[in-house]
Amino acid sequence: MPSLVTPVIPAGRLARTAQPELPVDADLRLRPWAPGDAAAVVAAYADPDIERWHARRVKDEAEAAGLIDFWRGTWVEESGASWAISPVEGGGVFGRIALREISLHEGRAEVAYWTVPSARGRRVASRALDAVVAWAFDEIGFHRLRLLHSMSNEASCRVAVASGFEAEGVERSAVLHQDGWHDMHLHAKINTRIP
Ligand SMILES: CC(C)(COP(=O)(O)OP(=O)(O)OC[C@H]1O[C@@H](n2cnc3c(N)ncnc32)[C@H](O)[C@@H]1OP(=O)(O)O)[C@@H](O)C(=O)NCCC(=O)NCCS
Repeated sequence: MPSLVTPVIPAGRLARTAQPELPVDADLRLRPWAPGDAAAVVAAYADPDIERWHARRVKDEAEAAGLIDFWRGTWVEESGASWAISPVEGGGVFGRIALREISLHEGRAEVAYWTVPSARGRRVASRALDAVVAWAFDEIGFHRLRLLHSMSNEASCRVAVASGFEAEGVERSAVLHQDGWHDMHLHAKINTRIP
């Protein structure tokens, strides 16, 4: 059945080129994940806060390699885009920032992020988020990005607000964590730069 609405972003807009590296600022860059990041991903998911809020455990480097393959594959499928937040010099991993549940037709996606404990306290997540938003809105033409965090996750709320994601409401009992169902705070940012 043909759609009566023109796709916001044409199919193929992402996958026709390799996933780009994105500059953030003088300290940070966003680079596509590489197979050599497996050990860093294992270490990141061993952090109790990342394990808690992402409800995932990564057992070993083989499992991390599978996760990295999955993240890389979402670019090809145009269903997601995931970057390692890295220092400008060197290949270390300060965190992850991603778009997931991409709908090119409607020009929307959901943001996800974590930072490793040693990188916290420097607004790494919101600086990385600002770079992803600039790329998504100005270069690709996304219309709306949403962000969901547990109502108990105050640090994530601070990241959302710092990057201009306005609060829109609460999705009640929406996500299952190890300690039960969590109400989720919904934020979103609209691209007002294109009609
Ligand atoms: C949420 C997270 C990504 C923020 O990372 P970051 O950019 O390194 O953030 P910072 O440490 O610079 O803190 C960001 C803000 O949160 C505040 N904050 C940090 N930890 C906090 C806590 N436990 N409770 C309340 N506020 C907190 C900081 O004071 C700062 O506030 P400000 O911007 O008003 O100064 C990081 O804490 C993390 O990875 N947590 C575990 C995984 C997670 O929660 N992912 C998001 C799931 S939705």
